[in-house]
Amino acid sequence: MKYDHNIPYKIYLDENELPQNWYNVRADMKVKPAPLLNPGTGNPMTAEELSGVFCDELVQQELDNDTREIPIPQEIRDFYKMYRPSPLVRAYCLEEKLQTPAKIYYKFEGNNTSGSHKLNSAIAQAYYAKAQGLKGVTTETGAGQWGTALSMACSYLGLDCQVYMVKCSYEQKPFRREVMRTYGANVTPSPSDTTAVGRKILAEHPGTTGSLGCAISEAVEAATSQEGYRYVLGSVLNQVLLHQSVIGQETKTAMDKYGIVPDIIIGCAGGGSNLGGLISPFMGQMLRGEQSYRFIAVEPASCPSFTRGKFMYDFCDTGMVCPLAKMYTLGSGFIPSPNHAGGLRYHGMSSILSQLYHDGYMEAVSVEQTAVFRAAEEFARVEGILPAPESSHAIKVAMDEALKCKETGEEKTILFGLTGTGYFDMYAYEAFHDGRMTDYIPTDEDLQAGFAGIPQFPGNEF
Ligand SMILES: Cc1ncc(COP(=O)(O)O)c(C=O)c1O
Repeated sequence: MKYDHNIPYKIYLDENELPQNWYNVRADMKVKPAPLLNPGTGNPMTAEELSGVFCDELVQQELDNDTREIPIPQEIRDFYKMYRPSPLVRAYCLEEKLQTPAKIYYKFEGNNTSGSHKLNSAIAQAYYAKAQGLKGVTTETGAGQWGTALSMACSYLGLDCQVYMVKCSYEQKPFRREVMRTYGANVTPSPSDTTAVGRKILAEHPGTTGSLGCAISEAVEAATSQEGYRYVLGSVLNQVLLHQSVIGQETKTAMDKYGIVPDIIIGCAGGGSNLGGLISPFMGQMLRGEQSYRFIAVEPASCPSFTRGKFMYDFCDTGMVCPLAKMYTLGSGFIPSPNHAGGLRYHGMSSILSQLYHDGYMEAVSVEQTAVFRAAEEFARVEGILPAPESSHAIKVAMDEALKCKETGEEKTILFGLTGTGYFDMYAYEAFHDGRMTDYIPTDEDLQAGFAGIPQFPGNEF
């Protein structure tokens, strides 16, 4: 191994170096992300309207485009100390294996029981629900990581937790479901007959394996129809990217300590929360004209919101009960193939990242599933960590970039987000090993069917 004795294998920060504040990248964006719209009136959602669905403090964070730093309450910082700061790892063994002159680093967020970065926002959202005196929260989960993280946070704070889990994940990942139940959550496969919107979706699409968009509709209905409940979401929203900024801030502190400056920063993109969190302080520098980086979002070819979607106002959910968000979207009715990276099967994308991508600050690529698992396996064999399928999308592109450096001889520094572990994804690994994994790429006609459901109004036409 070409070990550089000046740079540790793992850079660990001291717990006192945990960020004191979340960093709000919107404060540095010249073109702000477009506001959420009320689908009934076409006007921007007010705090009052949003507070029927979300906790009050989270509504303030959602709407705040201007405050650069938002203090992290002490109780949340104390909880973070149970598993943060997370390590920044130099992938010496992967570099050796690829024989690349590139230096590869990854920020590893899988070092907590829930197994991913989702806990960073789960604890924050549960904290504000508790502080408001609520009884509980409802949510959706795709792959199960977000639901697991929220269940952990709710059991820590003594809140009820109701999770609508996308049906194909519910069936593919029974153990993930049982972890949530162990933490006391109530888990329902979605679409279900427990909500009006679930029954409607089931009637229109009998036998559907569900999607995040369906599960969101059900969870919102469950929250608004029960006294003392609010809905919480694990990605996409501005507030979630804000909470996830701890990832990027820790990374930057660790890199600054050793004088490391990344050339390329890569993350997988489902709804955009880990990528948004990882890049935010670096993006802030770029927006302020202090430094330049290449940012790459990686998405599955089966659900290509950035690379083949439309930048338009669309519903965040399939049942069309949520506000409209301006984002790269495949249409809220688009139901992606049951790709194993369940956390990346969302039709839309964070409005913040969508605006940054639209304004040319970010690139995006889509990758096929079997190539992703090939990269995941190669990574696991040399680096030891068994990566989540979602995270492996970032691994694949980091490896591709490192191999480009091998061709050109450039010694670039590549940073990627390793968002979680894949111990609950062994059916997917099994399908890959047995040669049963397929690469479904939607045709233009498939996408057209999804686009047809995007609402059209003045200023929001194709
Ligand atoms: C391990 C992991 N990585 C990434 C994602 C993608 O979500 P986001 O784009 O919000 O980071 C998920 C979502 O469930 C996930 O579980």
